[in-house]
Amino acid sequence: MQLGLIGYPIAHSLSPWIHHRLLTMHGIEGEYSLYECNPEQFPDQMEQLKGSKINGFNVTVPYKEKIIPYLDELDEAAKFLGAVNTVKSDNGRLIGYNTDGRGYAASLLNQYDDALKSSDKVLILGSGGAARGIFYALLKHGVKKINVANRTVEKAQRVIEDLQAHSTSSALTLQQAEEDLSQYDLIIQTTSVGMAPEKNRTLISLTGINANTIVSDIVYRPKKTSLLKEAERQGARLHYGHGMLLNQAILAFEIWSGKSTAASRIMTAFEEKLKGE
Ligand code: ATR
Repeated sequence: MQLGLIGYPIAHSLSPWIHHRLLTMHGIEGEYSLYECNPEQFPDQMEQLKGSKINGFNVTVPYKEKIIPYLDELDEAAKFLGAVNTVKSDNGRLIGYNTDGRGYAASLLNQYDDALKSSDKVLILGSGGAARGIFYALLKHGVKKINVANRTVEKAQRVIEDLQAHSTSSALTLQQAEEDLSQYDLIIQTTSVGMAPEKNRTLISLTGINANTIVSDIVYRPKKTSLLKEAERQGARLHYGHGMLLNQAILAFEIWSGKSTAASRIMTAFEEKLKGE
């Protein structure tokens, strides 16, 4: 199979490692190549991919939205979110999917099978593409009350309005969110805060959370972010970001190859790989 990734910059992506492992695991001959291109080169690169023998590819920053005009069809999640992270090529006919949110939910449920009950109250921190994908996946799991807090509260409001017809959810400032954390069963951090160069920062303070709350951070470099360290001090349950990365990749691979993979089969090796980074 000919697979790959389009984005900019992508030299440090972990996707080649994951997909080469999946190809080997399923005994499929193939290659996962990096198609790094700047925005000027993007149209030509897309034409080239469309005319090539590629079976599928991933899409990352900054093209998850820009790729849509080049595609022939979108799955429900990609259509709803207006963003694509996986493309399948059917003899040049390109179909766009979005596995980010489903990957997140799978990763969370692999670790905590009691998460995502319809009665759960969830707080999402951030309002970018990752937050939207996760919000959508939680709705699909029947979670009804999903508050969104963001530095720019108008953007949080837009996420709720775009994705949810009824209004059981609220948009909050980061300060408002901080003031009433004890109500949440799950708190999900979706911004880049916690990653270099903001490694030592947390978006909010976790004072007042319940001991049973799951604190989840989608940042995976470092594995234990400052927010997760604080959650640990508070006795909360932790959920790390690398599982989302692995699970969205497994779901993309399934779209291309028809082969499903239990994340547990690859998790230990993936964690070793991350340690060596
Ligand atoms: P992605 O698509 O990867 O989720 P994005 O669309 O750039 O990324 O969204 C970034 C999110 O991180 C936004 O919610 C952003 O807040 P604003 O909407 O107020 O810009 C948030 N974010 C990024 N850096 C931040 C910082 N230093 N402090 C607070 N929020 C930050």
